[in-house]
Amino acid sequence: MYIVFIGPPGVGKGTQSRRLARHFAIPHLSTGELLRAACAPGANRDPQVSQHLAQGRLVSDQVVNEIVNRRLADDDCSRGCLFDGYPRTKVQARVLDELLAARSQKLDLVLELRADEDELIRRLQQRASTEKRTDDSPETIRHRLRIYREETAPLIEFYQHSGQLQTVEGVGTQDEVFDRIAMCLPAKQRS
Ligand code: AP5
Ligand code: MG
Repeated sequence: MYIVFIGPPGVGKGTQSRRLARHFAIPHLSTGELLRAACAPGANRDPQVSQHLAQGRLVSDQVVNEIVNRRLADDDCSRGCLFDGYPRTKVQARVLDELLAARSQKLDLVLELRADEDELIRRLQQRASTEKRTDDSPETIRHRLRIYREETAPLIEFYQHSGQLQTVEGVGTQDEVFDRIAMCLPAKQRS
């Protein structure tokens, strides 16, 4: 199964996609995590990438597509993976289709997680006190939400047209959200 998780910052993409990845025993591929790892002390850092992350701006399509292309070449991705936060632009969506087609694969499902902005801000501010992500400051949270509305939300219509989209309410307990996600899977994949 190749599944995309799409949704605004704080909606639970990481939480739910990691859980679904365990369920299917396939890798969880988060471009945010891969980019943060690329900016960690000791990594071969690209100052522009670190700056974009800290400011909550999208890293260039070229850099992100290359990271995904490299990760998809790993053996453990040959049976599927969960894309968390990728694609985020139409260019990335087209490239993902091409990357999968080149491996004789295709996207099975796009899961959109939804929650209202007050809830997202509350979650991210709470996380800021424990995880210390550089992009969880109030100003950067607002900027990330705006970038999502402007650059990523248009992908929802794109996937609606392709018939791959399922929308899930991301509010409630983590178990409740996971159960809703499970209902979007093909029947034979649910248990
Ligand atoms: P990324 O790491 O993907 O961050 P994001 O999209 O801003 O989302 P978050 O990770 O903050 O939230 P989430 O939806 O994963 O929610 P989570 O499960 O953590 O990207 C970071 C940056 O990298 C981007 O801004 C950009 O610069 C760059 N980047 C990444 N991908 C890119 C791409 N494709 N192209 C270009 N640039 C890219 O949950 C949030 C909190 O809520 C947690 O504390 C969690 O415990 C809690 N929570 C989860 N579920 C629930 C629930 N049901 N009820 C209450 N609390 C909950
Ligand atoms: Mg995340």
